[in-house]
Amino acid sequence: MAQNLTLLGIESSCDETAAAVVRLQSGGERQILSNEVAGQTDLHATYGGVVPEIAARAHAEKLDHVVEAALAQADVGLADLDAIAVTAGPGLIGGVLSGVMSAKGLSLATGLPLIGVNHLAGHALTPRLTDNLGFPYLMLLVSGGHCQFLQVDGPDSFRRLGGTIDDAPGEAFDKTARLLGLPQPGGPRVEQAAKDGDPSAFDFPRPLLNQPGCDMSFSGLKTALVRAKDQLVADQGGLFPQDRANLCASFQAAVADVLAAKAARAIRHYLERNPVEPVLAVAGGVAANAVLRASLQDTARSHGVAFVAPPLALCTDNAAMIAWAGIERFQLGLIDDLTLAARPRWPLDTSQAAMLGSGKKGAKA
Ligand code: KG4
Ligand code: ZN
Repeated sequence: MAQNLTLLGIESSCDETAAAVVRLQSGGERQILSNEVAGQTDLHATYGGVVPEIAARAHAEKLDHVVEAALAQADVGLADLDAIAVTAGPGLIGGVLSGVMSAKGLSLATGLPLIGVNHLAGHALTPRLTDNLGFPYLMLLVSGGHCQFLQVDGPDSFRRLGGTIDDAPGEAFDKTARLLGLPQPGGPRVEQAAKDGDPSAFDFPRPLLNQPGCDMSFSGLKTALVRAKDQLVADQGGLFPQDRANLCASFQAAVADVLAAKAARAIRHYLERNPVEPVLAVAGGVAANAVLRASLQDTARSHGVAFVAPPLALCTDNAAMIAWAGIERFQLGLIDDLTLAARPRWPLDTSQAAMLGSGKKGAKA
């Protein structure tokens, strides 16, 4: 590679307004020069979930400031950039539009190339930013709106091996938290509460384990949790803190078992075609969960497969992953122009039918 590449990344597809500057050095070293994330949790707290209109307005108000902060933190000006990368989907359309319009404005004003990035590709390519992974690798992308096993063959080449047929695990964590009166986002709260609980206190279902393939289902788990909670309330007149902990721990154990069993299947399938130096990488907000990470790591190890999990701040939504995916596309000459469209749905693997359903983060890819 002849020269350094420095990109600004912008992310606004759900409830984080984020901007980051990432540099790929001529020698191949990756540097995250800044990674600014402004959350909106407070704005949505009273509604029990992300309100798309409120999210879009907040993005529009905050984007300029977050971009400014990312440039200042990185100590670079617009003139030092090689291109601007922005999440162009999938996600909540108002938020995606805010980011795309902001990036178009910057591109028009500076003449810098504009690169539209698939948010899921951002997550899926993160292990190349953090761990310098080569292609191909197996990826479990597991977040608030998505859950899929992907074979990642290139910056623009993904093959889906299986995924959820209904809820995403992050959605299930968030619903569990809501049901038990814990604040949003639910994942970290449920994980925290589960630390004091008994994972075998409730025998929650592990759906689709008897079916072939890597597809998963999490909506039945949620229903089982509602029933268990209602039964406790009927029997005791309410929930004790220990009940809450046990429900969280048992729920988390069921999710861990399903992900581990299906990961084992995805690994075996992957190994049939890619036996050399195999890697399982995880990404997405739910991959921040220490119990799930440990169980996936065990699964990988028992199959002789290396395990890569990016640092927590790069698992949840951020713009460094968008800047990095932009660098990968820039190197392939995949540059957009001002006709770049915001796409609420945008499957990574276009050779297969899209997954159905629509989660709290908008339409599934
Ligand atoms: O990737 P992400 O930031 O946003 C997208 O969905 O694209 O993921 C957010 C999701 C939320 O549902 C949140 O509850 C979940 O990731 N999450 C967790 C944990 N941290 C975040 N789920 C389980 N355990 C965690 N520690
Ligand atoms: Zn995400």
